Amino acid sequence: MENFQFYAPTKIFFGEEQLNNLPDILQEFGEKVLLVYGGGSIKRNGLYDAVLKLSEDVFEIQELSGVEPNPRIETVRKGVALCREKKVDVILAVGGGSTIDCAKAIAAGVFYEGDPWDFTSDSSLITKALPLVSVLTLAATGSEMNSGAVISDMAKNEKLSLGNSLTIPKASILDPTYTFTVPEYQTAAGSADIMSHLIENYFKQTRGAEVQDRLAEGLMRTVLQYTPIALKTPDNYEARANLMWASSLGLNGLTGRGKGGSWSCHAIEHELSAFYDITHGVGLAIITPRWMEHILSEQTVEKFVSFAVNVMGLSLIDDRFALAREGIRCLKNHFTSWGIPMTLVDVGIDGEKLELMANKAVEHNTLDKAYVPLYAEDVLSILKASLN
Ligand code: NZQ
Ligand code: ZN
Repeated sequence: MENFQFYAPTKIFFGEEQLNNLPDILQEFGEKVLLVYGGGSIKRNGLYDAVLKLSEDVFEIQELSGVEPNPRIETVRKGVALCREKKVDVILAVGGGSTIDCAKAIAAGVFYEGDPWDFTSDSSLITKALPLVSVLTLAATGSEMNSGAVISDMAKNEKLSLGNSLTIPKASILDPTYTFTVPEYQTAAGSADIMSHLIENYFKQTRGAEVQDRLAEGLMRTVLQYTPIALKTPDNYEARANLMWASSLGLNGLTGRGKGGSWSCHAIEHELSAFYDITHGVGLAIITPRWMEHILSEQTVEKFVSFAVNVMGLSLIDDRFALAREGIRCLKNHFTSWGIPMTLVDVGIDGEKLELMANKAVEHNTLDKAYVPLYAEDVLSILKASLN
């Protein structure tokens, strides 16, 4: 295990009716609130009304609506201008990862003289940020409990990350009932995203980080157990609660700290979204099994055996490669059974830009530091294998 710092300061309010804490939480940070939300799901399911009912008499509320899935830099700039104009004290993000990510970039952008897009190449430019509170509505990204934000500039076909400890939410309200209305497609994509965060941290070169790996295996098994239930019975509280908490623990440092190196599949997926605006978790579900097949070798087979046995529940057999491949096949089967389209063609991507995306993935990320170093030709090969 490598040396590490673990810092997860977000105060979590988990469970039904936790929204009632909102006024007390916000009061700590000021009176002027910027309410950030997405395309209207919170209006349709009553959460918007509930938030306003609790806060509009006590706080001065400004609104920034219409945050896009794969949030755009233009919306961040709009939010920064609004915060400056209205002298906002605290940002309240109500939504999924896109809304929370957009709010993080706004929170940091308010105190930065240049353009917030600059943070994507250097997050140390973030030296101050408005406090951010989130109400999560979709179990997926872990943004509710971490520093990261992923913002897109579609004019440049770029989707890049930013964030440092200043952009970690101060508090997050996690009421699983708010995820009852998440459509099947997004529920499945969200679960694939959680699985991917855990897989990216699981498959690392660092040895001896048993705590992290056993925690990750437990979280992955939980996601595999509860996703079909949430898909079949969207208002199953137990399933939604477990997925929601797995989302937060999946990417708050718990399974990643102490393990060095870069991720693999996220780098590739972000290029797919940057060029084709696809749903993040769907892109990951398509890429991950192909990446696994690409890197399976004598050097990695033992880890795949652990994955097959401890996550997929397969029995140990002598043929390690057969077992490893069966583990990968099981993962793919889970994604397929959740209704995820499992090829690039299925999500409207043809071969035209594969080479360009492969080059960009390598340019934007340190893929040479991944579990198995990846170069442009590797990424291209993974993308080609994902086409059909
Ligand atoms: O926009 P609204 O109308 O709210 O609808 C959203 C959106 O259409 C809908 N939705 C959310 N909660 C709902 C709901 N619909 C009904 N009922 C609810 N309760 O779902 C759609 C997708 O929402 P979005 O926020 O885009 O999804 P997600 O949470 O998966 O976030 C994806 C974004 O997060 C980034 C991704 O790249 C992508 O841009 N990521 C952020 C990370 C982070 N901050 O740490 C890490 C991840 O790896 C990821 O890259
Ligand atoms: Zn992700």
